Amino acid sequence: MDRVVTENLGRVFESKSGPVIALKSVNLRVRDGEVFGLLGPNGAGKTTLIRILTTLLLPTSGSAYVEGYDVVKEAKKVREIVGFVSSSEKVGFDFATARLNLWFFSQLYGVPRRVAMERIEALAEALHFKDQLDRRLYTFTTGYRQRLNIARAFIHDPHVVFLDEPTNGMDVMSAKTVRELLVHEAKTKLRTIFIATHNMFEAEEICDRVAIIDNGEILALDAPERLKSRLSDRVVLLETSTARIDLEEVLSVRGVRGGTLKVDGESGRARIRLVLNDETGLSHVIRLLESRNVKIFLHEFIEPTLEDVFVSLVGRGFAERESEDEK
Ligand SMILES: Nc1ncnc2c1ncn2[C@@H]1O[C@H](COP(=O)(O)OP(=O)(O)OP(=O)(O)O)[C@@H](O)[C@H]1O
Ligand SMILES: [Mg+2]
Repeated sequence: MDRVVTENLGRVFESKSGPVIALKSVNLRVRDGEVFGLLGPNGAGKTTLIRILTTLLLPTSGSAYVEGYDVVKEAKKVREIVGFVSSSEKVGFDFATARLNLWFFSQLYGVPRRVAMERIEALAEALHFKDQLDRRLYTFTTGYRQRLNIARAFIHDPHVVFLDEPTNGMDVMSAKTVRELLVHEAKTKLRTIFIATHNMFEAEEICDRVAIIDNGEILALDAPERLKSRLSDRVVLLETSTARIDLEEVLSVRGVRGGTLKVDGESGRARIRLVLNDETGLSHVIRLLESRNVKIFLHEFIEPTLEDVFVSLVGRGFAERESEDEK
């Protein structure tokens, strides 16, 4: 069953410097039991899309449905069946215990008393904070607060849970616990988990399918393995003697689709990671670097990552894309 559907969904913001197109005609279908990832750099439109799907923001064109309910015309229905977590919001009452906080939220949704009590225990257990349930929230570390936020999003047995960068700023253990819960909830209860992230590792690790979004547009959508397999034998890593390399020049070489350059602060060496149109691009790059007196210590074809998929679509890496936008 399609749980989340968008049809030519668009959103334009009016700003002083003119209209900002945050989403351009997005078409998605996400099924039940699916962990679906929205992966893109800062400003790609992830939060805008999630806010529309959770009825917090109106679209300016197109339409969207959650379990068949129109997010604009049947917003109240949609709110009953979705859960929502945003990493940036601070939810809950500091001077109440974690248990009381979760109880409060369960009652907002009218969850029956017994069911609510059982669910609080079960969620706290799954998220490894059962021993903290009777502590007041102000004593919670960031990681535990976030675990509580996640528990809150599941308290009313939602069919779809939207999470906007849920593990941002979390410690490694908390993030791992949360990811395990998300997969478990999707697979055992057939919930749809819809997660926005710019964490490639997270997207690869837990998502059944990933939509790569940039500038408000979905550029590719598939299982992470399939997205990556299209690039096999096309990603190459070069380690060079100096970081004084004109990346733009390298990227303009015939056969090079895109790439990134990272400098190792200690050795001063650079690691250039390139996505090629085909294997022959490598020899052109080596020739160019040698003509610029750059020594190449290493060049090898490597396993593609989702970041390489992004580079192959946009020509730049996430970090580069983000600093471009700041300009
Ligand atoms: N209220 C607003 N007014 C004007 N522009 C906005 C508003 N909200 C978002 N935008 C713009 O819409 C675009 C998409 O923003 P959005 O927050 O959806 O991106 P994002 O993918 O969530 O980014 P991040 O990774 O930084 O959270 C950006 O260009 C942003 O500046
Ligand atoms: Mg965002």
